[in-house]
Amino acid sequence: MSLQSSNFHASDGAAYEVWLGRWSSRLATVFLDFVQFPEFGDLLDVGCGTGALTFAMADRWPTRSVIGVDLAAPFIAYAQSRRTGDRPTFEIGDACALKYGDGRFAGVAAHLVFLFIPKPEVALREMRRVTRSGGTVAAVVWDSRGGLVFQRMLWDTAVAIDANARVARDSLFANPVAIPGGLAGLFQATGLEDVETQSLTIRMDYANFEDYWQPFLGGQGPVGAYFANLAPSLNARIKEAVRDAFARAQGPASERLDELVEQGRRESHEVLEFLGRQSTAPDAISERFPGFDTLRLVHASFVEEQRIQLAEMQAHGDMSPAFVRHCVLTERGARVVGIDPLRLGLA
Ligand SMILES: C[S@@+](CC[C@H](N)C(=O)[O-])C[C@H]1O[C@@H](n2cnc3c(N)ncnc32)[C@H](O)[C@@H]1O
Repeated sequence: MSLQSSNFHASDGAAYEVWLGRWSSRLATVFLDFVQFPEFGDLLDVGCGTGALTFAMADRWPTRSVIGVDLAAPFIAYAQSRRTGDRPTFEIGDACALKYGDGRFAGVAAHLVFLFIPKPEVALREMRRVTRSGGTVAAVVWDSRGGLVFQRMLWDTAVAIDANARVARDSLFANPVAIPGGLAGLFQATGLEDVETQSLTIRMDYANFEDYWQPFLGGQGPVGAYFANLAPSLNARIKEAVRDAFARAQGPASERLDELVEQGRRESHEVLEFLGRQSTAPDAISERFPGFDTLRLVHASFVEEQRIQLAEMQAHGDMSPAFVRHCVLTERGARVVGIDPLRLGLA
């Protein structure tokens, strides 16, 4: 691998697939919808990796010539092994010195590549050179301000424990190409016309924490290089801290939370009706609703923020079905919100 042309650690295509390829394939579809390449002519995927975009292009246009080129021989070998016929074509090559003639392609794209090329302007000039007049040059990079959540959580946690992680974090999150306007600015500076931008979104759904964590240790990309050289004790500390952050953000727990809140709302409706006819004394309410373990009168305006508070409870791992039995009463009425007000310091 030429150090001048790439700072991406690429040694194992299968490890890359588990870490990122499974998600970049999702992005490829959304990206192609946005790009809208010319209808005819050859297509080139620069920095194709294990072929996420190359395969997506070959599937979408079964009769067109589609080439994927990458500096990393292990990725190209892996991509080749995934083909079922003789297309698409995969080749080893440097984005900064493309081996194709001027104007050879109708469309040329770089999919999640520019962050890893020290001089992306050189690669983009090359992409422009090999694109025919009127053709399309396209690129996508991670959005370092609003996106790349799966790595943001990891790197911010790692830096708090190991200051050495800052270099890798900043290469991703403070990269000039990835900040707002960075990519469009690069395109304009290269003399490309009619530059259009759009924010694209994909979901990354992990089965559990290990499904999220283990692929980072596969040795690929900046994160793989970082962990490959990390002392085991630091690795273990970062893992536990990231596990904690992951647990707080987990999707299935949120669905459970919604379920509990919904149940609470139904129950609170009954309490409200009762309050309309009875005194608000806790004893009377307890008598009428024996299922509630704890009834507390709370004069606070926090109900508006109840979802934040609930998320807080969830973050501390305190959410359990028992909490839904707790009822918070406000000046405006009663709402069962499934939390223990004592734990929030409100009672
Ligand atoms: C994050 S991966 C993206 C791979 C693929 N496009 C995808 O979306 O899954 C970045 C890729 O850029 C490649 N790369 C980095 N610098 C390159 C260069 N100068 N020429 C060709 N490929 C390069 C790396 O080898 C790696 O495969």
